[in-house]
Amino acid sequence: MSNQLTWYGHATLGLKTGDYNLLIDPFFSGNPASPVSVDAVAADFILVTHGHGDHVGDAIAIAGRSQATVIANFEICNWLSKQGVEKTHGQHLGGGFKHPFGYLKLTLALHGSALHGSALPDGSYGGNPAGFLLTTNDGKKIYFAGDTGLFGDMKLIGEEGLDLAVIPIGDNYTMGPDDALRAVKLLTPKVVIPIHFGTWGLIEQNAADWATRVEAETDAKAVVLQPGQTWTLA
Ligand code: NI
Ligand code: MN
Repeated sequence: MSNQLTWYGHATLGLKTGDYNLLIDPFFSGNPASPVSVDAVAADFILVTHGHGDHVGDAIAIAGRSQATVIANFEICNWLSKQGVEKTHGQHLGGGFKHPFGYLKLTLALHGSALHGSALPDGSYGGNPAGFLLTTNDGKKIYFAGDTGLFGDMKLIGEEGLDLAVIPIGDNYTMGPDDALRAVKLLTPKVVIPIHFGTWGLIEQNAADWATRVEAETDAKAVVLQPGQTWTLA
């Protein structure tokens, strides 16, 4: 089986793992960096790290047309059910579950998580923000940090032996380049891919420069994707 990761700009990712299409933080409508229309993406499962509008994104619409199961924390799943999403699977920090596509554990993220409706913010409580640690059915470990600042327990996540870490570098709302470099040193992944930058001027970063620093100071290979680009985890 193979694992193919596509970056759709901002924090939006597609992962084809074996026969399953996963979408992570599916923000297409209103995402200036998205190279594709929300109607063009397939999903069997939708993973939502936290309740902010640039992460819940189009989850409700995509779940409605694709019958995908949405996986998020318990509070976000409750809220999505009230918005009409039929299939949800709530988990919580530290808890893992064996889904058809692999074993998925929710990890700590230092951030906020108020929920927004699709039109007007309704301010519902979104529980704690999360990251995801996925062990695929062929044994690959992939860490999606979500929106987060740097935290020392990234070392514990790294101890699992990461094939890939996908981390934010945009600064302002999340880790910036300097802290993201320190995160790579704690996580010690084989490969790191930066996201959550370049969407708007406020989070503009030079990802190529960051990748050069990562490869000079750590053993990780840094892969900078363009929005719409797909990368295969060998
Ligand atoms: Ni956020
Ligand atoms: Mn965000």
